[in-house]
Amino acid sequence: MPASIRILVALVPTLCAAQSNETTHDAALTACNQLAGLLGSSLVQTSGPSYETAIANAWNLQNAEFQPTCIVFPTTSSHVQVAMKAVYDAKSHYAVQSGSHSAMKGWNTVQEGVLIDFKNMRNASYDPVRDSIILEPGVHWQEAVAALEPFGVAPVGGRVGDVGTGLLLGGGLSWLSPSQGYAADNFKELDVVLVNGSAITVTATNAYSDLFRALKGGGNRFGIVTRYELSAVHTGTKDDQTWFGGQMIFDSSAEALMNATARYVREVDDPKAVILVSMIYIVAGEDLVPVYLVVLFYNGPNLPTDIFGDFLSIPSVSSDLGPRSYFDVAGILGLGNERGFVQHFGASALVGEENLFLDAFNHWTNFSTAYKDNFNTTTLAFTPIPDSQIQAGRAKGGNIINAPGGGFAAVQIYQQFKAGINVIPADVKVGIDRLFKQIPPSPGLPLYVGECDSDQKVFESYGDYELLKRIYSKYDPERFNVKHSLGPGGL
Ligand SMILES: Cc1cc2nc3c(=O)[nH]c(=O)nc-3n(C[C@H](O)[C@H](O)[C@H](O)COP(=O)(O)OP(=O)(O)OC[C@H]3O[C@@H](n4cnc5c(N)ncnc54)[C@H](O)[C@@H]3O)c2cc1C
Ligand SMILES: *[C@@H]1O[C@H](CO)[C@@H](O)[C@H](O)[C@H]1NC(C)=O
Ligand SMILES: *[C@@H]1O[C@H](CO)[C@@H](O)[C@H](O)[C@H]1NC(C)=O
Ligand SMILES: *[C@@H]1O[C@H](CO)[C@@H](O)[C@H](O)[C@H]1NC(C)=O
Ligand SMILES: *[C@@H]1O[C@H](CO)[C@@H](O)[C@H](O)[C@H]1NC(C)=O
Ligand SMILES: *[C@@H]1O[C@H](CO)[C@@H](O)[C@H](O)[C@H]1NC(C)=O
Ligand SMILES: *[C@@H]1O[C@H](CO)[C@@H](O)[C@H](O)[C@H]1NC(C)=O
Repeated sequence: MPASIRILVALVPTLCAAQSNETTHDAALTACNQLAGLLGSSLVQTSGPSYETAIANAWNLQNAEFQPTCIVFPTTSSHVQVAMKAVYDAKSHYAVQSGSHSAMKGWNTVQEGVLIDFKNMRNASYDPVRDSIILEPGVHWQEAVAALEPFGVAPVGGRVGDVGTGLLLGGGLSWLSPSQGYAADNFKELDVVLVNGSAITVTATNAYSDLFRALKGGGNRFGIVTRYELSAVHTGTKDDQTWFGGQMIFDSSAEALMNATARYVREVDDPKAVILVSMIYIVAGEDLVPVYLVVLFYNGPNLPTDIFGDFLSIPSVSSDLGPRSYFDVAGILGLGNERGFVQHFGASALVGEENLFLDAFNHWTNFSTAYKDNFNTTTLAFTPIPDSQIQAGRAKGGNIINAPGGGFAAVQIYQQFKAGINVIPADVKVGIDRLFKQIPPSPGLPLYVGECDSDQKVFESYGDYELLKRIYSKYDPERFNVKHSLGPGGL
């Protein structure tokens, strides 16, 4: 037994918090002791610099406060198999972390359990024979885009550089989505370790095609993906300025922006067009300073006015529109890698008349005003999901979200709390829950699991919810994941 584990065993009574569950605690220790023996102390850590760095890396400060019993740093899929077998046999709690950007508390880490952290598995490569992109789960989008650009290809991945591949398992909203579907619609083949440690390769046509579909939206519930093979999109290199667009920043005109957004969501269905509308308040003393950010791109030589004219005609305080390569497009929002704040997400989904969007804005403004003392920034963001995106996904075999055709906007309600706030205050939680009731999803629309609150009923909102539940019980008949890991509810 390595010394560190012996010390941990000796410390058991002191480490057990007052309300600690002995069964949970002992199970985690059993799994960690076994894993230290099987994989060695460099891959399995219970303290020290790698352990501390991994903990501190969680993007949401609330997730940086968990202290896993041990952290496993796999470098191969078989390490993950060994880890899950030990977790399963010991009936230990566990969690998985890739890019670390979950806002949901406990969805990418664990107290009294085993954390599998993919930070040492982050290769991204291009296979020209299969015309595929191969990603290891620990890669971040900025690294993947940079590694693949010389080959003139890009993955349908995230819009912010420091985010990781967990995005794919939630569906994934990309600058390329209007033409290619949700990021997950571009899966070709996945290597998956099931809860019991069995490893399988899943595709759209093999014996595991049901699991393949469930992994397109099922989040962390359906197994641990150790290798992604994705369709490559031929976006060109840094020199190929085949896109046009950039960012416009506004300090007022919220109503005009909401009108333009409502109309875009209802009417625009061009796979070459993409926008992200982020209504942001920066809290400066007693003031909410509006910074309304619209990112807009067209895969062509200009921004057609029949698509973007409403936005272009609103007076902005700054604008950097111009020709861009896809590499530039993918980098426009930067890394988003600041740490040290409590972060909270919530989701809605809207399509409809101008008033629907303006009401959402007004409720959010009232909420932001009422609780501003808690926030560093507060954001209401709209990602249009056009019909072209939904149809592209269906043409590629379909996902488990199974959104209705016609187009809508995924709505993200996001607060970054002030430095120094470590827990979401109870009154703010009441305000957040009220805000969700004030901005309910339009009937029949799915919520986005990557940008939700942990209490929101995301799976229940999927078009294929019943199928999702059946697939879950087939691959995890003992409901091990649901009992031993935090993540989306409803299974
Ligand atoms: C700044 C920021 C920008 C964002 N931008 C976008 C965007 O442009 N488009 C978009 O769609 N979403 C976006 N998101 C949301 C994003 O999709 C989710 O936060 C996503 O969960 C992040 O994945 P991750 O790997 O970084 O995080 P992690 O917290 O590491 O993982 C997220 C979840 O997936 C699970 N998971 C991760 N890897 C695996 C695996 N290999 N096998 C099984 N389960 C796994 C984890 O356990 C966790 O529950 C953004 C989030 C942030 C914070
Ligand atoms: C302890 O945890 C185990 C496993 O999660 C659970 O089955 C049991 O009910 C818990 N016991 C208590 C007292 O919370
Ligand atoms: C990434 O994977 C490719 C393809 O397997 C391989 O050629 C390359 O050496 C790997 N890179 C690293 C840094 O491991
Ligand atoms: C927004 O749209 C509504 C409904 O069409 C209209 O009455 C209102 O004048 C518009 N406001 C702005 C600023 O464009
Ligand atoms: C916002 O608050 C103001 C003042 O308290 C109130 O008059 C208004 O009706 C509220 N609007 C919404 C949409 O809740
Ligand atoms: C808000 O966060 C940004 C970084 O995200 C930081 O630069 C700024 O100081 C923060 N402001 C406050 C008021 O905490
Ligand atoms: C693991 O679980 C899968 C799905 O339930 C099952 O098919 C497989 O036989 C199990 N493997 C082992 C070793 O029990």
